[in-house]
Amino acid sequence: MPTLETTVDGLKLPNPFIIASGPPGTNLNVIVKAFREGWGAVIAKTVSLDASKVVNVTPRYAKLHSTDGKEIVGWENIELISDRPFKIWEDEFKKCKDMFPDRALIASIMEEYRKEAWVEIVERCEACGVDGFELNFSCPHGLPERKMGAAMGENPEILEEVVGWVMGAARKPVWAKMTPNVTHIEDPSRAALKASATGISAINTIRSVMGVNLETLRPEPSVEGYTTPGGYSCRAVKPIALRMVMEVAQMIRKEFPGRSLSAIGGIETGNDAAEFILLGADTVQVCTGVMKFGYELVKPMCEQLLAFMEKHKFETIGNFKGKSLDYFTTHADLVKRQSERKAAQKAAKVVKSDGEWSGEEFVRQSEALSR
Ligand SMILES: Cc1cc2nc3c(=O)[nH]c(=O)nc-3n(C[C@H](O)[C@H](O)[C@H](O)COP(=O)(O)O)c2cc1C
Repeated sequence: MPTLETTVDGLKLPNPFIIASGPPGTNLNVIVKAFREGWGAVIAKTVSLDASKVVNVTPRYAKLHSTDGKEIVGWENIELISDRPFKIWEDEFKKCKDMFPDRALIASIMEEYRKEAWVEIVERCEACGVDGFELNFSCPHGLPERKMGAAMGENPEILEEVVGWVMGAARKPVWAKMTPNVTHIEDPSRAALKASATGISAINTIRSVMGVNLETLRPEPSVEGYTTPGGYSCRAVKPIALRMVMEVAQMIRKEFPGRSLSAIGGIETGNDAAEFILLGADTVQVCTGVMKFGYELVKPMCEQLLAFMEKHKFETIGNFKGKSLDYFTTHADLVKRQSERKAAQKAAKVVKSDGEWSGEEFVRQSEALSR
């Protein structure tokens, strides 16, 4: 019987399905629900020391439906990090660890570009018993104005420095969460790993504009008639996430073997998870999927992933992690492989008995038999 149990960076998880930082981990009530439904771990909504600077707007989501209107395929948000006071979070982290001492609770943290702030938030979270950290270097909206989130994630030098501060203070594993809004995601990922981050999480949301209302001529989501670019998630981003996870996984394999990778972006099924694990992920995270289908989603996801493992006779997640990475190459190599195959097929088509001579192929068949 295959097992979904897996250990990543010392964290023992009942399965690789993790609640991604966002609304599904936004307070103790919902985190409790996630653990009760069987999620492998929870990454709480991103917290900062001073929540008074975080002011959200409504509406802050916009959805893209399939053409038949039945399915949500894309989701834009202009939501900021948690607007709840850090003191409340400290209390809830502690309560959560009292209730679920053997389940992994990961704090997602974000701070301004000041060493004291990063060290303080790490130390205060660790004092509450959290099992690890995810550094949010990736929120594409709102916070870059304060040089937070993606503003750091887009700058490998700053990122390396900040990860260094965190690694100097943290005793628990630290995953650096990457923004996809860069040309080469390997660059900031490499900077984080150089500074000794335990692992990488990828991807956060993709900077986007959901659309323009053709009646009002205003872009969406419209707040008092105006908007600001937000972050795109949900099924539509999966192919981009797969590509970026593959790129980070190749880099980890070559330059930082043993560091972990947590995949995020449009994951809604066990088969989606299998694809990301085949491209090098240790764990998979889900945010929008939970907002669409509820916390119960983890059960069919686990069942489908187990069925995939049974079919291919994989006993553990480690048995197939990164197995499909070897099949990426350059376009020039694809051309070479194809012409080699065609040549081999042609060579194989030599006449082996007189009945195989054909009027149309006669000259080629004669040629193929010549020295
Ligand atoms: C409404 C919303 C709020 C989010 N808030 C955060 C956040 O506070 N911190 C963070 O690191 N990522 C946040 N994310 C990004 C998700 O964790 C995830 O990286 C992204 O949505 C892609 O995964 P998905 O397609 O499963 O949603 C948020 C996403 C959504 C949709």
